[in-house]
Amino acid sequence: MNLNYKEVPVDAVYSLRHQVLRPAQPLSSCHYKEDKEDSAFHFAALNGKDVVGVSSFYCEPNANLPDGIAFRLRGMAIEPSLQSHGIGTNLLTQAIDICKKAGADLLWCNARVDAKNFYQRIGFKATGGSFNLDGIGEHYLMYRELI
Ligand SMILES: CC(C)(COP(=O)(O)OP(=O)(O)OC[C@H]1O[C@@H](n2cnc3c(N)ncnc32)[C@H](O)[C@@H]1OP(=O)(O)O)[C@@H](O)C(=O)NCCC(=O)NCCS
Repeated sequence: MNLNYKEVPVDAVYSLRHQVLRPAQPLSSCHYKEDKEDSAFHFAALNGKDVVGVSSFYCEPNANLPDGIAFRLRGMAIEPSLQSHGIGTNLLTQAIDICKKAGADLLWCNARVDAKNFYQRIGFKATGGSFNLDGIGEHYLMYRELI
């Protein structure tokens, strides 16, 4: 499959974000308040016109992490029938380059327990114990230094 990885408008990420990450909640739960901030960008994998992978990034500090300009990753989701084919790795690796060009020193996320290995393989470290996010489940704070 020949996928195209590129920045997309936020409207392009909502459907897959909802289907994969919050199917039991209303679509409005997938409209994050940070989505339209000036620093926000949304990065997707496309198969033709079909959006098959999504991720979103914002400049957002985290007091529990080392100093520096921090970007946050949210809404990382791959179309279910295409998971475990390397698309998430390609998507995140390319988006990290954009974060670096935007001046980020580190990238962090609240990672679902099930996705911990995926992030570790891309160089993220977990810090602290797991914690519960309402309605979504157990997570780890994970980050990767970009310098
Ligand atoms: C987590 C998620 C974003 C990862 O994306 P992905 O495209 O499935 O990830 P990759 O294929 O790049 O890597 C995942 C696995 O496939 C394996 N893999 C990587 N490239 C592969 C390839 N070419 N062929 C087969 N398997 C491959 C990796 O070893 C990895 O194994 P792991 O499950 O132990 O981590 C995706 O599975 C997903 O959307 N999951 C549900 C939602 C979710 O949990 N999102 C994260 C919220 S924090």
